[in-house]
Amino acid sequence: LGTGPLAGRHVIVTSGPTHEPIDPVRYLANRSSGAQGTALAQALVRLGARVTFVTGPARAARPVGCTVVEVETAIQMQDAVTAALPADAAIFAAAVADWRMQAETGSKIKKQAGGAPPSLDLTENPDILKGIAGLESGRPQLVVGFAAETDDVVAHATAKRARKGCDWIVANDVRPETGIMGGTDNAVTLITEDGAEDWPLMSKRDVARRLADRIAKALG
Ligand code: C5P
Repeated sequence: LGTGPLAGRHVIVTSGPTHEPIDPVRYLANRSSGAQGTALAQALVRLGARVTFVTGPARAARPVGCTVVEVETAIQMQDAVTAALPADAAIFAAAVADWRMQAETGSKIKKQAGGAPPSLDLTENPDILKGIAGLESGRPQLVVGFAAETDDVVAHATAKRARKGCDWIVANDVRPETGIMGGTDNAVTLITEDGAEDWPLMSKRDVARRLADRIAKALG
């Protein structure tokens, strides 16, 4: 058994984008390097947690000392998270695609010379965070979501916390000029039941360490 404040605790972390196939060669995706989720998983391991790291196809190196579950789609990510329960905490750092194709296309959509581009019939993906936060039995003690916002960060993230039913929201300002997306630094606001806490700009690794410390405190 590990040592540290999170020894004996199981934490699920989702990370990276999901890819939703359009046809065998194309997909829909969100922009996500997986850097923050990976750093967080690593910080939790350092505090002694047993971590299940569920990741979409991300370019970040995989965290060491975790159980890594590689998935492609939102449905697969949801299945992997559900299969990893029970957990003491679940942290949803993944940038899950909101939609997937309504029907699977087994063959490549052909470009028609001079023809109109195809229209894609989409359907909504399950909200994994909301589903876990709303579990009537087996809900992790602490459920944390992320919010990438471009304006009114605190207002939107506070509303998101209520809508999703999670305990905390880690909000970040992803306006392109911040350089946060794909970058090494992050400026986050932690939204809890006590309100909003602005953290100074720091590396994603330091955000991860500070968040891991808070998670350890919250789990007691
Ligand atoms: O609604 P929005 O996508 O902005 O919410 C972001 C939060 O919800 C993140 O924590 C993300 O991992 C989670 N999420 C999810 N499943 C979805 C969409 C978002 O778990 N289908």
